[in-house]
Amino acid sequence: MYTKDQTKKLQAETESLVKKKNIGIKDIDSLRNVLRFHEYRYYILNDPLISDYEYDQLYKALENIEKENPDLITKDSPTQRVAKGLTKEFYTVSHLVPMLSLDNSYNSEDLIDFERKARELTGENKIEYCVEPKFDGASISLIYENDLLIRGATRGDGVEGDDITTNVKQIKSIPLSAKFSDYGIQQIEIRGEVLINKKNFSKFNEKLMEQGEVPFANPRNSAAGTLRIKDPSEVGKRNLEAFVYHISYFSSLKSKKISDKLKHHSDSLEMLWDLGFRSPEKEKKIFKGIEPVIKYCNEFETMRDDLPYEIDGMVIKVNDLVLQEKLGMTSHHPRWAIAFKFKARQATSKLLAVEFQVGRTGAVTPVAKLKPVAVGGVTVSSISVHNEEYIKEKDLRIGDSVLIERAGDVIPQIVKSIPELRTGKEKKIHFPDKCPVCKSQLYKEEEEAVWRCTNLDCPAQVVERMIHFTSKDAMDIRGFGDANVRKFFELGLLKDIPGIYELDYKKISELEGFGEKSIDNLQKAINNSKNQPLHRLIYALGIRFVGETTAKTLANSIKHLLDLKDLSQEDLQNLEDIGPKVGGSIYHFFRNKENIQMLHQLEKIGLKLKNEKKDLAKGGNLNGLSFLFTGTLPTLKRSDAETMVEQNGGQILGGVSAKLNYLVVGEDAGSKLDKAKKLNTVKIISEEEFLKMIPSTKS
Ligand code: IVH
Repeated sequence: MYTKDQTKKLQAETESLVKKKNIGIKDIDSLRNVLRFHEYRYYILNDPLISDYEYDQLYKALENIEKENPDLITKDSPTQRVAKGLTKEFYTVSHLVPMLSLDNSYNSEDLIDFERKARELTGENKIEYCVEPKFDGASISLIYENDLLIRGATRGDGVEGDDITTNVKQIKSIPLSAKFSDYGIQQIEIRGEVLINKKNFSKFNEKLMEQGEVPFANPRNSAAGTLRIKDPSEVGKRNLEAFVYHISYFSSLKSKKISDKLKHHSDSLEMLWDLGFRSPEKEKKIFKGIEPVIKYCNEFETMRDDLPYEIDGMVIKVNDLVLQEKLGMTSHHPRWAIAFKFKARQATSKLLAVEFQVGRTGAVTPVAKLKPVAVGGVTVSSISVHNEEYIKEKDLRIGDSVLIERAGDVIPQIVKSIPELRTGKEKKIHFPDKCPVCKSQLYKEEEEAVWRCTNLDCPAQVVERMIHFTSKDAMDIRGFGDANVRKFFELGLLKDIPGIYELDYKKISELEGFGEKSIDNLQKAINNSKNQPLHRLIYALGIRFVGETTAKTLANSIKHLLDLKDLSQEDLQNLEDIGPKVGGSIYHFFRNKENIQMLHQLEKIGLKLKNEKKDLAKGGNLNGLSFLFTGTLPTLKRSDAETMVEQNGGQILGGVSAKLNYLVVGEDAGSKLDKAKKLNTVKIISEEEFLKMIPSTKS
């Protein structure tokens, strides 16, 4: 898409725009080109050259110019992804060409059979195939006319789908315009798959669960569900991605002939890639004959879990477009392509019982106990079934056969029960009305699906709050762990969060399995946690609906944690992404005397309730210095290291450039390290050297 020279030129243009004080109308084209270039670097190549901050500054500059000069707005300006208001209805539209399915194959015999038929029908002896991943998402159709994206639609029934253009524009890896005219094309219909990558999917599901909502079973459902949301800005927040893999129709310009480059399927993948789309150009491979195809499919299956997104197989396509035409299609699938499906990540098992667990916020979660079954390489014997409604919706009964799915590293879910296999002996699941641990009456808010134990002293809640407090993403007290929290609590050695810092190590040393070394390590880990940044402490408190992002927002808006007790619900709701539900929960937490008392106690113990960023940011000793981290750091989490930089007045850059002062290198550092070495101006340091630059960790 961009040559080396173009990249250099655009990067220089970026740097001059970033520095420029009075960006104006004459910079409008340059701004758009530069923004498109950086979107491409970020969303297609996954290799940004500038920081999010710099991108945002340039984006805002363009927005301001367009606000003052609305007549200069173009349909494909980077600002035009944003839609105003809600979608009332998704209109039904016809696809230019029906969206067919693919025939499936499961083993080498099936593929050999596919090859045999293809040979018979074409009369060709050695057929060339293009093999690419089968993306496991929601399929879409895109239409571009005169180089502009004019429509995005769901598959629907294959003949008609829903017009979801406004939502499709939120997907940054789908260009708003592309130079199809260079290839002589006037109108084109492209097929592709919308995905949500595994990392974003997990984050999104965690957020749903934090809010007491039911998570999606897999990234596919989540992507498909998101495409049908009526609020485009919400779609934008979910970071969908798209791969395009097929051209189903094109017409030629009057003035220009269709490029003679488009003779093979692989040529279309290349054209789409060159025009700025994310096609499987790098993943695809071309082979003559079916034997090497089978080998490649099997090899790819072993890499399945290493990919950032879900795939459920490979697609094998006859590469020559003339042969494709000759082979034609059935009413269901083309005869020139076949899907090779990977081993299923679904399995059936028996629902043996349902247990009820009480979480840190008192939520009572039903957990299905299953006859152990292997799904996608792990044995599953217990799965959360979320809440009463979910059980009803799925019509789950004890004794039922159930279908289980485990997508990649995603938590396993029950997809459905299989009523056809019932014997009549299955039993209904009864939800308790008393807390299974402390026996107090359970309570359910009107619009909620979750039953709760409201007794804050319920032993289950107390323990779960402490487990959350010590956990990796919270105070990260290594070596403490669920088992120790439970053990110390049961033995009366630990009763609340401040108690973590006042453990009687003498008594612990008398317990089995606690040698001098392990006690020493535990003590050190507990002490170190006192220095955790404020946002981690806020998250660790386990306030309902307050996840890591909200904790950061809160930490950034106060000077001291106890400032939060002086904020009204309205003040709280004025903060980014905090609505009435989250705001209300924070407000009540800080109106509770026992919570305030606990915070005073923690401060006395030595935990950091002060926002050091507010103190240091301006006069911090990293002032004016820029940093970038690459590879896995030996002890620090990347996000914490970045917070440390910012807290000390430094800046995080998005990529290696002449503006970068320090590259902090961990294990398996990749291209960033090579680039930095070439530049010569960047200091390359280790985590240890970095930590020496931070005041509180110097000694
Ligand atoms: S080609 C006319 N290529 O799989 C055939 N499909 O099970 C066009 N899919 O409906 C489809 N990855 O949604 C093709 N690389 C790929 C694909 C792919 C995923 C989906 C597509 C299709 C479904 C069939």
